[in-house]
Amino acid sequence: MGSLVKTTHIPVLSREVIETLGVLPGGRYIDCTLGSGGHSQAILEHSFPGGQLLGIDADPDAVQRSENKLKSFDKSVLIVNDNFVNLRDICVKLDFFPVHGILFDLGLASPQLEEDGRGFSFQHDAPLDMRFSPTQRTTAADIVNTYPEIELARIIKTYGEEIHSRQIARYIVQKRPIHTTGQLAEIIEQATGGRHGKIHPATRTFQALRIVVNHEMENLESALSQAVSLLGFGGKIVVISYHSLEDRIVKHFFQKESKDCLCPPEVLKCVCGHKANLKIITRRIITPAFAETEMNPRSRSAKLRGAERIITPTQQYEEAAEQLNCSVGIVTGHWRRPGLIEKLRKTFLSMQHNKPTGHQK
Ligand SMILES: C[S@@+](CC[C@H](N)C(=O)[O-])C[C@H]1O[C@@H](n2cnc3c(N)ncnc32)[C@H](O)[C@@H]1O
Repeated sequence: MGSLVKTTHIPVLSREVIETLGVLPGGRYIDCTLGSGGHSQAILEHSFPGGQLLGIDADPDAVQRSENKLKSFDKSVLIVNDNFVNLRDICVKLDFFPVHGILFDLGLASPQLEEDGRGFSFQHDAPLDMRFSPTQRTTAADIVNTYPEIELARIIKTYGEEIHSRQIARYIVQKRPIHTTGQLAEIIEQATGGRHGKIHPATRTFQALRIVVNHEMENLESALSQAVSLLGFGGKIVVISYHSLEDRIVKHFFQKESKDCLCPPEVLKCVCGHKANLKIITRRIITPAFAETEMNPRSRSAKLRGAERIITPTQQYEEAAEQLNCSVGIVTGHWRRPGLIEKLRKTFLSMQHNKPTGHQK
């Protein structure tokens, strides 16, 4: 992909991530968004001795940066270049579960924004690409040059929360073909009558295109539920989001998974049978302190939420038994045979895996 640049990414809310994950020596953790390896490094330092970390990133350049940064941790780190929508698959393949904590630090790392050729930023003129991974087929150029005006307007409104979506879509269609970020930013400036507030008029449209190119919303929803099934009892999940659409998904997911019943209020007796899997541990959303935003302006919009897996080991085996169509007695009767229990969990996870999930790349 783009040439590797020297821009460093400063990990956001690093202390808060370690505290909310409750990182302990000897723990097993997954960083689903390795980036430049900043959070992973902190997790490895706090889980020493005996800690293990699985780091995942869809971007091969991020993987290379992290491999360099984390090489001194040697066998304590496993790095995988893949999309986190394949989280359960990756963990089953590597036999990396159950885990004590899982982190998602969503969005982009600083080098991705500053690298020539990635097309994420309108600050540099570059081909309109925006893919996290070169294995993905659709680029931002494909979308702006082929989607009907009405669909472009819908995307820009929904994923950019842009009030000028219809004008922008109309201008885009009139000025096609559009090949570079610079061209697109100029067209958006013309469509919106130039800059009015603090943010550049292209900011929201660029966000919307990036979300659609990378299936960010669908993949996040799918990965969150996969993550929960990989946590052991008391394991923590921590998510840092950078815009309201991501944060809404995380908030609703945590709320839903921390309820015992999802029936509508008019239903007097529960018919859904849903059981709480999580307990929310960040009663108030965590945001960076003033000192952090001064030092690292990119942290300004960060919001951290965390939850803890509350389902007991017995319930996990009940889940496994249900999935395997055998009686709980058979499963729990083998409590003292960890090999069998692991096998059951593995079968359970691979069966879960076959349920429809988000966009697979
Ligand atoms: C904000 S950065 C993470 C920075 C990292 N926490 C650090 O301290 O260096 C987000 C990273 O997540 C990756 N990413 C975003 N969505 C992804 C997905 N669906 N699957 C895998 N990686 C993803 C991006 O490529 C990027 O490198």
